[in-house]
Amino acid sequence: MKKLVVGNLKMNLDFNEIADYLKIVNSKVNSPHVVICPTSIYVPYFLNNNYRVGLQNVCWIDKGAYTGEVSPKQASSMGISYAIVGHSERRQYFKETDELINQKIVAALKNDLRAIVCVGETLEERKNLKTDQVIKNQVINCLKNFTAKQLDELVIAYEPIWAIGTNRTPTIEEIEKMLTYIKSIVNASFNYAGVKVLYGGSVNENNIDELNKIKNIDGYLVGGAATKPNAFLKIIEVALQG
Ligand code: PGA
Repeated sequence: MKKLVVGNLKMNLDFNEIADYLKIVNSKVNSPHVVICPTSIYVPYFLNNNYRVGLQNVCWIDKGAYTGEVSPKQASSMGISYAIVGHSERRQYFKETDELINQKIVAALKNDLRAIVCVGETLEERKNLKTDQVIKNQVINCLKNFTAKQLDELVIAYEPIWAIGTNRTPTIEEIEKMLTYIKSIVNASFNYAGVKVLYGGSVNENNIDELNKIKNIDGYLVGGAATKPNAFLKIIEVALQG
């Protein structure tokens, strides 16, 4: 099974930088297992290439008076195929709750967008040995009432918040254990054994060889390194090799 590599460009790169970025990425990225999630105003420049395009966030409603939001129906109708949902920055700055995230995933899947559902613990929760409980709650609440068919159309991204943008990662043993744990929660709670789980948080061109030794990893969610074309290309090359 090929891994999935998702690049989350967040609110980075101005218009000129995007043009330079596209020159490299559009000529070198050639796989349906790569998803690039640009700032939504730039999406049209990324479509119709040899990779997939995703949103960084999506509305829970298809249409209507929701100023500033992007609907999953609009996204799907223009050729976008994925949406990141519940990223920790959305939870932190925009107060997104597990209940809202659950509604957003439902809306995304209904419109044929695959959801990339983010979960992760803070440093404080980790220090207080609450990681397992926090992750379990997030997984169960975000996926509430989901069927096997829905679970087949989403991936979970385990992103410890303290590892995002910090150049720190858990050990590969810790990541492997957490991925097994998340898969077992989904299996026990929703009776679905096949859920895919990515790792995200300071994945870069220097640690990808090591991370890629993790046996049960289904891919990566990459932030900072995805904004640097050469770093991103190296990550893709290693991840898609096996
Ligand atoms: P990072 O971000 O790779 O810069 O740590 C990952 C993410 O937030 O998805």
